[in-house]
Amino acid sequence: MTIAVHPVPSAAGPVIPFYSPSGNEIELFELAWARRLPLLLKGPTGCGKTRFVAHMAARLGLPLHTVSCHDDLTAADLTGRYLLKGGDTVWCDGPLTRAVREGGLCYLDEVVEARKDVAVVLHPLTDDRRILPLERTGEELHAPDGFMLVVSYNPGYQSLLKALKPSTRQRFVAIEFGFLPPEREIPVVSAESGLAESRVKPLVALAGRLRALKGHDLEEGVSTRLVVYCASLIAAGMPAREAVLATMVEPLTDEPDVKTALVELARALAV
Ligand SMILES: Nc1ncnc2c1ncn2[C@@H]1O[C@H](COP(=O)(O)OP(=O)(O)O)[C@@H](O)[C@H]1O
Ligand SMILES: [Mg+2]
Repeated sequence: MTIAVHPVPSAAGPVIPFYSPSGNEIELFELAWARRLPLLLKGPTGCGKTRFVAHMAARLGLPLHTVSCHDDLTAADLTGRYLLKGGDTVWCDGPLTRAVREGGLCYLDEVVEARKDVAVVLHPLTDDRRILPLERTGEELHAPDGFMLVVSYNPGYQSLLKALKPSTRQRFVAIEFGFLPPEREIPVVSAESGLAESRVKPLVALAGRLRALKGHDLEEGVSTRLVVYCASLIAAGMPAREAVLATMVEPLTDEPDVKTALVELARALAV
């Protein structure tokens, strides 16, 4: 489990991670925060969900507790457990419990990956009770006003079995994320990689074509993250064709025929 707790921005002024909005998501987040409503972010991998949360936490001056969920993650991993320490058993808060005690944003990334019992702890926390019962310690924590839960998931690659149950998803205000339109993705990739917009343009055009192949030859369209990687390698001096192969072809497929087709597509777009 990866847990990152980012400190509250210093008095010298917060460093706000760069985020280019695609719609009204910033306003929606601020209203959800003001009303203490939990938020669900859905969208393909690498389209800016995690960056958005980091941006909003800094913008609102809130500590951010991030948990990357995986298929072994249980409710106890989130809430905490008794551990043996020098002959004594001591209770250790999990990241969710810590966030509820301390306040701030708790971000469960890829929440559908987690075990089913996680829903049980999220339910009382995401309705008007806003409580986290800790069965093992007998405590019932009330989330302070400064606590907000944000979860994300990728609807694309979840199997039906793994999709969020209606009883869980209907507790969240939801925002759908997609890839930015080219005129916004170009400046984002340029800012992130340091490569001139004129040189980013054909990469974003290629990304658009590759995304159109989703569901046909490709399982997932190329993420903004990969386009940023590609531009970064080119900015560092790698020839564009090699960078494209390493970031926008190889990560997407293992099929030799599909690879050849993607390389040809890149050539046709003069990348
Ligand atoms: N709207 C955006 N504004 C700024 N950077 C973005 C945006 N969308 C994507 N990125 C870039 O793409 C990368 C991957 O985004 P990330 O938030 O990690 O994706 P996700 O969490 O949806 O998988 C970021 O590190 C950032 O460089
Ligand atoms: Mg993410």
